[in-house]
Amino acid sequence: MTKLSESEISRMHPETMALSYGFDPWLSEGAVKPPVFLTSTFAFKHAADGKRFFAWAHGEGSPPPRHEMGLIYSRINNPNLEIFEARVALWEKMQDAYSFSSGMAAIATTLLATHNPGDEMIVCAPVYGGTDALIHHFLKRNGITAHFVPAGFEAPDLVEPLINSRTRSIFIESPANPNNRLTDIGRMKELALRHAPIPAGQQSSRILVMVDNTMAGPVFAQPAKVGADIVLYSATKFIGGHSDVVGGVALANDPAILTAIAQHRAMLGGMPNAHTAWLLTRSLETLKIRAEAQQRNAVEVAAFLEQHPKVRKVCYIGLLKPEDPEYPIYCKQHTGPGSLISFYIQGGEQEAFAFLDHLKIFKLAVSLGSTESLAQHPAAMTHSGLTPEDKLLGGISDDLVRLSIGIENHEDLIWDLNQALAQV
Ligand SMILES: Cc1ncc(COP(=O)(O)O)c(C=O)c1O
Repeated sequence: MTKLSESEISRMHPETMALSYGFDPWLSEGAVKPPVFLTSTFAFKHAADGKRFFAWAHGEGSPPPRHEMGLIYSRINNPNLEIFEARVALWEKMQDAYSFSSGMAAIATTLLATHNPGDEMIVCAPVYGGTDALIHHFLKRNGITAHFVPAGFEAPDLVEPLINSRTRSIFIESPANPNNRLTDIGRMKELALRHAPIPAGQQSSRILVMVDNTMAGPVFAQPAKVGADIVLYSATKFIGGHSDVVGGVALANDPAILTAIAQHRAMLGGMPNAHTAWLLTRSLETLKIRAEAQQRNAVEVAAFLEQHPKVRKVCYIGLLKPEDPEYPIYCKQHTGPGSLISFYIQGGEQEAFAFLDHLKIFKLAVSLGSTESLAQHPAAMTHSGLTPEDKLLGGISDDLVRLSIGIENHEDLIWDLNQALAQV
């Protein structure tokens, strides 16, 4: 076997590299798959190596690239985490990634690494309920103020008047959870650069565009290509993809931001364990075929729901028409609509609950992006902690149901939805 050169690797597709990148079998007895490195600590050959590795971990001096550095301690680095991170970064075509024990650990650590007391955020709402709680409660208590504007094509016009000298970030979920509104990341980046140009010798503007890309997943959208400085994931969703692992990822291109994220991860201890990282690496191998199968099903399911008399409105980006104001954003930011569908049922909570209770194939459960189809009620479940104002801003009313479409046969999924709607 001969190794691919760096220039050959850069020409390969991520689904090809997901099977080999970042792992050298000859460092592990020729194993084709990475072993699980169940060790908390790593031996240094010499004391001087330990000193050098710690200098790297603390961001001192000008050390060689991270992946050429030695292993220290599994809260700081571990081969399974590094293999997973290298493959995710390749998928996003971003400089580097850090993995976390959950999406919330990735989001919280990254926000703490990049914001100081007195800073302000502008948040395009809705965002996932856990993120909303973090911003509203924890960050607020720690002196970081957030302004919320509704996600969607009009968001940049609403964000601009809120930008001031304290603004540190514009936080976007696109598509937004759960209403699938799309926000123009490139226009947000233009605003960030116009109001805070990049200082000489630095790589990022003071105002960071941060995108939680969990809902689209890395197969159908890569936010850094259109201007995101930081991309965040709940890897529990499409990346893990089997509802059997909880994890998160933060990606960036600017070395200063990456170092800050790495140091805060080491300080706060939110890294995944080796087995979690191994599972996530295994799941990356099938990410594309899973996401494509889920999307094919979702297109069929959305078409069925759209014509059903008990459904008031379907929110699925695959149903956007060229005349819709978010259609150009879809064309710029996405290569496919993915598999998250929300819909408003005729009626309210009672009708939504009756529908959910009668499902037989869909699991009545939160989370998304997995092989099995899931259905939930955002107002009572994932987004129940939102203030009434934020629920209104995000269109999270009692008649809203969110579906995550899996890899089952779409005819069976439609049969299930049809029989459950008949019970309402
Ligand atoms: C869009 C989004 N971001 C972040 C999270 C949090 O991820 P985790 O549950 O892995 O902490 C979720 C969880 O549902 C989510 O939907």
